[in-house]
Amino acid sequence: MNLDKRLIDKFVDITSCASIACHKYIGKNDKIIADKAATDAMRKSLNKLDINGKVVIGEGELDEAPMLYIGEKLGTGKGPSIDIAVDPLEGTNFAAKNLPGALSVMAISSKGNLFNAPETYMDKLAVGKEIPKDATDLDFSIEKNIKNIADSKNMDLNELTACLLDRPRHKEIIEKLKNLKVNLKLITDGDVSGALLVSNPKYNVDIFIGIGGGPEGVLAASALDAFGCKFQGRFLFETDKEINRAKKMGIYDLNKKYELEDIVRGDSIFCATGITSGDLVEGVKIENNKYYTETLVTHKNSTIDIIKKEVSIT
Ligand code: FBP
Repeated sequence: MNLDKRLIDKFVDITSCASIACHKYIGKNDKIIADKAATDAMRKSLNKLDINGKVVIGEGELDEAPMLYIGEKLGTGKGPSIDIAVDPLEGTNFAAKNLPGALSVMAISSKGNLFNAPETYMDKLAVGKEIPKDATDLDFSIEKNIKNIADSKNMDLNELTACLLDRPRHKEIIEKLKNLKVNLKLITDGDVSGALLVSNPKYNVDIFIGIGGGPEGVLAASALDAFGCKFQGRFLFETDKEINRAKKMGIYDLNKKYELEDIVRGDSIFCATGITSGDLVEGVKIENNKYYTETLVTHKNSTIDIIKKEVSIT
């Protein structure tokens, strides 16, 4: 079932509201307080909506997160049944340290259409829509993926750029990319944005790869779907606790490679409002007693846009 376009504006208001609430904690070097401010505001606004919502990706399991936990019911219960994936503050370090790229992010779908991802790492790959879907794959070697991208774009390897999180676990991939003479965009955090950089040539990123959060993978997949990009993910379970959780969520094939359409089925809406300015959107600004926000919105069936909002400071 397609989502009502009128929901877009309501959800933009919600991520904007969470960003504004977080704004006063930018640069306070306290990621917990910044995350709490965004989470409280997002939850409060979601509960005012006439929806029958359920959190499928949130701040954690009920035993770890009192708010926006997986399974929490949201809204007045009067409207459409929808699944909600939230990351009220994506890039907690960015907000705490006043660095570029903190976002408030949400994706929604009709009930049952968004993958219920466990809180575990995911190996990810994303490329733009101009690359044939069979040219890249999580199961190909780095060399094969890069060479196929170069062939399909008719570019030299040293003209390509790969984006990935700057983490010790990526040492081997980084070495291989360097040997291939591929340019690197190493991000310190924020792999929802990182993955979305393949969506438009203006960002000059040809492939996003590597291991990051599984929930962030689902959020990115929702937007990448609207852009017509490719996304694949495979969970990486490290502990028995993670494996048991996954099984409880109905995941039995622990090595399954998920295609975008396994993660986001049908229609979805994605909103990402800037908290601090980054590659995708500007952060919250204050001028003339008003907050100004910018939100990247995608709705598979209707729009891809940057929506600007102004909210009076009361
Ligand atoms: P937080 O906003 O929860 O701090 O997550 C930031 C982030 O960089 C994500 O974008 C990414 O998926 C994940 O952390 C990577 O995890 P790790 O820091 O353990 O490598």
